[in-house]
Amino acid sequence: MYDVHAVRKDFPVLSKVVYLDSTATTQTPVPAVEAMNEYFYEYAGNHGRGAHRLARETTTRYEDARERVAAFLKADPSKTVFTKNTTEGINLVANSFPFKAGDHIVTTLIEHHSNLLPWLRLQKMGVEVTIVKPEGPEGLIDPESIEKALTDRTKLVAVTQVSNVFGSVQAVARITKMTHRNGVKVLIDGAQSAGHMPVELSALDCDFFATAGHKGLLGPQGTGVLYIKEPDLLESAFVGGGTVSGVEGLNYVLEPSPACFEAGTPNIPGVIGLGRAVEYLEDIGVFEIEKHETRLARETAARLSEMEHVEVYGPTERAGVVPFNVRGLHAHDVALILDQSRKICVRSGHHCAIPSINFLEVDSTVRASFALYNTEEEVDALIGAVSDLKALVA
Ligand SMILES: Cc1ncc(COP(=O)(O)O)c(C=O)c1O
Repeated sequence: MYDVHAVRKDFPVLSKVVYLDSTATTQTPVPAVEAMNEYFYEYAGNHGRGAHRLARETTTRYEDARERVAAFLKADPSKTVFTKNTTEGINLVANSFPFKAGDHIVTTLIEHHSNLLPWLRLQKMGVEVTIVKPEGPEGLIDPESIEKALTDRTKLVAVTQVSNVFGSVQAVARITKMTHRNGVKVLIDGAQSAGHMPVELSALDCDFFATAGHKGLLGPQGTGVLYIKEPDLLESAFVGGGTVSGVEGLNYVLEPSPACFEAGTPNIPGVIGLGRAVEYLEDIGVFEIEKHETRLARETAARLSEMEHVEVYGPTERAGVVPFNVRGLHAHDVALILDQSRKICVRSGHHCAIPSINFLEVDSTVRASFALYNTEEEVDALIGAVSDLKALVA
């Protein structure tokens, strides 16, 4: 039986607020914070450089974290690269893949700006971009519509696994299979899936998977993960310290992956904290976490939908993301009132996905999002607070 109250003891800040903004960033459990403290207090050194004991200890712990994160995502550690966030991972691919003028990329209208702008930017060098629309207001992409958009010039399909605006879960396994059948590579934006639902990259077989360390994986801010199935396909846009095995005259030889993609000193304490956070997640079990989060989110959506003054967006079979609006009130006002009156933290705005918000024909939404530490009582608190807003709009 999933014991959410035991879990909450590892997240002290939750005694102060009702935190329903885990889609933006999650709280980090005490064992992960302690692992970072231990780095600073006991053995801080640089990674991969130096023979002394602190450098060796740091390198071992950093690489242990890589093993842990890769095992959690069922990925090969040598293809698992640490980044500072999802956005950096996607940009690394966009700027390191051998795109040339005339190439074609397919993405979708429901993408976060981080999985849209890096592709739109390539238009400047003559790459064509096609944006596939969702089937309807639930924010679901029909894999067939992606396949229809492919041409003999298409090099990449870039699609999110879970939309941060709709909470919709895309059929990424089918999309990957269909796209591969056409000889095209696939990038999955897993910012809202990793840690919230089982992700098995070896089975999914996508070419790139970018995610955050600071969201479902419960690591600290400033951490991210990029999986690259065929590292030789990319020539890293970032080179420098840590990426080369030799330099002679005007030539250099790059290290094999993942070192060639991690230029400069990385976020060492962050990665070590992320490794410990992932161990924490493993102990609880991602299947249990998914069940818990989706149950709370679906119940919240159903209860909000019963209120006449509230409009809820997204599909019934949603991940832990519940976007809504209160008729007659701006989303930012709703978020401020919830915070001021009940210490409920929800996100409001366009959620860095303006095309999605335009598609819903609104200028913003309120978004309640769930993680492993949220409770039924917190759902009741949100429902009570939103229900009370009726007095303001009646
Ligand atoms: C679907 C999606 N993609 C990408 C991002 C960007 O993530 P990061 O802040 O880790 O760069 C987010 C952030 O919320 C997101 O929800």
